[in-house]
Amino acid sequence: MKRSMYCGKVPESSIGQEITVCGWVHSRRDHGGVIFIDLRDREGILQIVFQPENVSVFKTAENLRSEYVLCVKGNVRKRPEGTLNSNMYTGSIELVVVEVEVLNTSAMLPFEISDYTETSEELRLKYRYLDLRRTNFQRNFIIRHKLANEIRTFLNEEGFLDIETPFLTKSTPEGARDFLVPSRMHHGNFFALPQSPQIFKQILMIAGFDKYYQLARCFRDEDLRADRQLEFTQIDLEMSFVEEEDVINLTERMLARLCKSVLNMEIKAPFKTMTYKDAMLRYGSDKPDTRFDMEIKDFSQELKNCGFSVFASAIEKGGVVRGLCIPEGAKFSRSEIDALTKFVGEYGAKGLAWMKIVGSSAESNIVKYFKDEEIKTITSKLDAKDGDLIAFLADEEKIVTQGLGALRLKSGKELGLIDKNKFNFLWIVDFPLMEWSKEEQRWQALHHPFTAPKNPDAINKENAGSQKAKAYDIILNGVELGGGSIRIHKSDIQKKIFDILDISDDSAKDKFGFLLDALTYGAPPHGGIALGFDRICALFAGEDSIREVIAFPKTQKTLDPLSNAPSQVSDKQLQELGIKVVSVR
Ligand code: AMO
Ligand code: AMP
Repeated sequence: MKRSMYCGKVPESSIGQEITVCGWVHSRRDHGGVIFIDLRDREGILQIVFQPENVSVFKTAENLRSEYVLCVKGNVRKRPEGTLNSNMYTGSIELVVVEVEVLNTSAMLPFEISDYTETSEELRLKYRYLDLRRTNFQRNFIIRHKLANEIRTFLNEEGFLDIETPFLTKSTPEGARDFLVPSRMHHGNFFALPQSPQIFKQILMIAGFDKYYQLARCFRDEDLRADRQLEFTQIDLEMSFVEEEDVINLTERMLARLCKSVLNMEIKAPFKTMTYKDAMLRYGSDKPDTRFDMEIKDFSQELKNCGFSVFASAIEKGGVVRGLCIPEGAKFSRSEIDALTKFVGEYGAKGLAWMKIVGSSAESNIVKYFKDEEIKTITSKLDAKDGDLIAFLADEEKIVTQGLGALRLKSGKELGLIDKNKFNFLWIVDFPLMEWSKEEQRWQALHHPFTAPKNPDAINKENAGSQKAKAYDIILNGVELGGGSIRIHKSDIQKKIFDILDISDDSAKDKFGFLLDALTYGAPPHGGIALGFDRICALFAGEDSIREVIAFPKTQKTLDPLSNAPSQVSDKQLQELGIKVVSVR
């Protein structure tokens, strides 16, 4: 017997035909005399009917268990009235078995493979091959495949060349921790796995390739979250002789095409653009979720002389006072407000000031410190209405921004203000080139040190904090999809930037010397972007975590329970590498 069709793809038009399907026993129902099996393959499920008249086949059916592998030949017929299932593609038909072959049996399952079981992630990943049999996974990886294919087709049509860059290389400056690979031939020396192909793609521009792309695997040893893995995939691209708008325009066309071809969704380009400053002020985040409003407002001017000492003194010390209005929050109990206070405390806030709007007046423990005029300004700026709750933070700008940004997101989610059907693309532009690192007491590049300043002649150590970069991030529904920039293509400017970043000549030479050298041999102006492919797949598949669109991800604790990695290696392997493991704990 040879398969003639996928289970999930048998059309109604095949009624009356004999077909052969292969798949796994998804479920089995014994209806006293007739046995039904849902047979599953990657495309979906088909109902199979075993009738007692066919004695040998029926006997086989009696012994079938979950996840046995079958090949079934039979006749397609319409399901009897009243048993139709409009939720599935094959819901109006069933296959009456003529012949069945059990291709394999299955051991008892560690968990059910229906779509909605709650199983620990550890167990799911240990038996990932079972987990991946779920229909939502089969669908997710078909979406992932379609996206990759469409991206390649689009970039090929645009004249990009797909060029591979090395995995065994030198440390790159994306700012995370490197994975190191010891060299057997050169004891004591290490390769670093690339955090991105950044330097190599710039060198490909210097080599004259003009337009490069790669679906590139990147490696970063960072703490994992829902949108972060140790290894992940970027749609990485670079172009010569371009300005910011060229890269932005190309990215928009690519994303619009993905939406159209994979989701059949029309997306309007150009996308909205917001400055970094505005995003931080109004949304408390450099990746604002603009699917709902609840904007943060600043009161540092209006309240600098107010009678509430917490506010006045924060402003006097150079900090800010900002607030947001939580719709219908006035009904929050004391303990609910205490919970919010604890929540913003995680971002360093020393407290949470609040006012409930009851009728046309404000009520709380701090209202007495404010003049009527001030309350009026607050409520009108926040457009606060009867039944709302206003929450304020007063502190240094970073704490207030982060705290209110997080409170806004949490409230938006909990109050159901986020429309899940919206696809809000947004560009963040006008990034600062550098930010001051308190811990290291030096300037640090906000993106990476090859990002071109808007005004390279003006920049110096004193004014570095106010300089803008030719950089852009693309955001979708509050997720940073990608980021890129126009690069520095002149070696003197690159040296100047290293100097301001306190990267010494020796250190620059050691780390990025090959790029600095290359910049002296006729480097063209160039720029590019990298988009997180896993994040795109997750958003397109409607998943909250990129682990749902990565076949073999690591757990939160950075382990792979399937292969049991990482693991110890033999003494012989270590000896060859010239490595001795010593316990430092
Ligand atoms: P950046 O570091 O912003 O830029 O990375 C680009 C995009 O990659 C995704 N991403 C991740 N996805 C999953 N897990 C991770 N640990 C992870 N880290 C990053 C994000 C991010 O926006 N070389 C530059 C790009 C350039 O300048 O062209 C770079 O790598 O979606
Ligand atoms: P206190 O004067 O300490 O009793 O504080 C009065 C109110 O101000 C309480 O609701 C505190 O949570 C709040 N509060 C204290 N510090 C801050 C701060 N830095 N920002 C906002 N609210 C604060």
